[in-house]
Amino acid sequence: MEESGSYHRTHKCGEISIKDVGNKVTLTGWVHRRRDHGGLVFMDLRDVSGIAQVALNPQIDNQAHEVAHSVRSEYVLKIQGTVSRRPEGTVNPNLATGEVEIYADSAVILNPAKTPPFVLDRDEEPSEGMKLKHRYMEIRRGPLMERLIARHKVSMAVREFLDKNGFFEVETPMLTKSTPEGARDYLVPSRVNPGMFFALPQSPQLFKQLLMVAGMDRYFQITRCFRDEDLRSDRQPEFTQIDMEMSFVDEGDVRSICEGMITLVFEKSLGIKLDTPFPIMGYDEAMRRYGVDRPDTRFGLELADVSDLAGQCEFKVFRGALDSGGSVRGLAATGCNSFSRKDVDDLTGEAIKLGAKGMAWIRIDDKGEFVSPITKFFSKETLEGIRDRLGAKAGDLMIFIADADKTTLAVLAALRLHLGRKLGLMEDDKYSFCWVTDFPLLEFDPEEKRWVALHHPFTSPRVEDMGLFESDPGKMRARAYDLVLNGSEIGGGSIRIHDSQLQSAMFKALGIGPEEAAAKFGFLLEALEYGAPPHGGIAFGLDRLMAIITKAESIRDVIAFPKTQKAVCMLTDAPSEVSPRQLKELGIKKDLG
Ligand code: AMO
Ligand code: AMP
Repeated sequence: MEESGSYHRTHKCGEISIKDVGNKVTLTGWVHRRRDHGGLVFMDLRDVSGIAQVALNPQIDNQAHEVAHSVRSEYVLKIQGTVSRRPEGTVNPNLATGEVEIYADSAVILNPAKTPPFVLDRDEEPSEGMKLKHRYMEIRRGPLMERLIARHKVSMAVREFLDKNGFFEVETPMLTKSTPEGARDYLVPSRVNPGMFFALPQSPQLFKQLLMVAGMDRYFQITRCFRDEDLRSDRQPEFTQIDMEMSFVDEGDVRSICEGMITLVFEKSLGIKLDTPFPIMGYDEAMRRYGVDRPDTRFGLELADVSDLAGQCEFKVFRGALDSGGSVRGLAATGCNSFSRKDVDDLTGEAIKLGAKGMAWIRIDDKGEFVSPITKFFSKETLEGIRDRLGAKAGDLMIFIADADKTTLAVLAALRLHLGRKLGLMEDDKYSFCWVTDFPLLEFDPEEKRWVALHHPFTSPRVEDMGLFESDPGKMRARAYDLVLNGSEIGGGSIRIHDSQLQSAMFKALGIGPEEAAAKFGFLLEALEYGAPPHGGIAFGLDRLMAIITKAESIRDVIAFPKTQKAVCMLTDAPSEVSPRQLKELGIKKDLG
């Protein structure tokens, strides 16, 4: 092993090309693969840039002999040698450096390596557990490293764009006060203030608004946010936002800045030119057509309300749902008359798993006839009316859910995605953006028996709805917008309240009394009184955006050191116990009973 000496390399492994033939080069890297050909030992040497083939003759000297015979996969080497054209028939067209090889005249082991926990030189996916426990090896394996590099490039494009457009990157505190974004806080005890806690930010929301009051005009930050919530493939307890705020803007200004930024990101990362402006869809329309506020608009299979027509039939399942104030909605699964009985049963099973009581269906055969055990409950006119409402035609399968409207929409929305996937309609290379706007401002929480903000409490109501605060808060619309890409909410924001009195009225509507408002948000209310400019902004989920750009299944696959579904880090074993002394210093007693 070499302890000292220069680690200077002349090239990275992937950079060697035919232009270097005849030149002496020095390379460093990991042994990807080793093949013993009797006289010569061939090694693929790998670094961040790629792979180069090295031929080592053990007869050069003793050191070469030792290296040739002792190296194993993942040993760290430095080699010096001469670049040469590969003999005919041995060129590897799959490798960027496949036309050349390096004849080594010196080779040094910089560090040996234990047998890796999983193979790195084949396209074999290690188990998820292994990938998380030995994350550094998983990164070294390749695909994750590529995604991390893609992520770096996106961050750079974002910074370049925002800098050019007058945004300043300002850091905001991590040890702070609770910022309500709808999740639980991660708390940090304060040793010097016994019994007191900081909260890690769920977002920099309040600080970015204060920066607008401060006159910074345009702010951004690529920053970590912390939310203690149930995890899914698109949620991590700590994740990264591209957070932005702008003064003197309306919704259109925010949208066009975002479209400029996203367009540059797609151009730089995927070489794709996006069409702008992105389409805008109201919340009500999104719910009506897709059953969700983040529609995947890559494909049709749109929902339709057939409650009025279903009201004319004798089918007790439909009548029952309507009589209890629910709805009957359906969709036409294009070409799915070809589904077998089992396919339909599976779909019904899926609906029930999603919370429906069942799923009704009517096939339209190739002659245009309606085929289903339930057709007897309907007149021909009603069936034709339903068919036309759904836009169905011969060869389609019509499916229906009857239930409370919330369930009807949610189940059909999920079935639509299920069918979209099954029918291959979710094209990987299609990027379908859409702004969803005009969200309700408030939502009634039946558990807490009070109104809660759908976005967050700092979002401005629409001017024309201001009068409804007292009379009909549920009808108020927010000046909020989400950017949805292929059914994923990649960003969300709003025009903010910049008037202290309106902000107080909002807190009141949310059941936050003046004392609680003063204790939690007094600093904001006060700041709004010192000349707050009208302002608005947005935050993008960088992890979600990267998952789509790199076609990753989970945002875990675009994060260097993520947490599991159970919010633990398998690499470091965090969270972990702390010493009794630490707890004592913090004045904390464990009570897990
Ligand atoms: P919001 O809560 O909508 O808005 O968050 C903005 C974006 O952040 C991403 N995101 C997440 N990504 C991964 N894991 C999570 N747990 C997670 N939660 C959210 C989503 C989402 O669109 N302060 C406001 C923004 C504003 O009003 O300007 C906010 O945080 O892509
Ligand atoms: P039943 O009368 O319960 O045997 O149901 C007759 C058909 O209606 C079956 O295909 C059920 O799957 C379907 N069905 C039952 N409940 C619902 C519902 N809430 N919405 C739609 N279809 C349903």
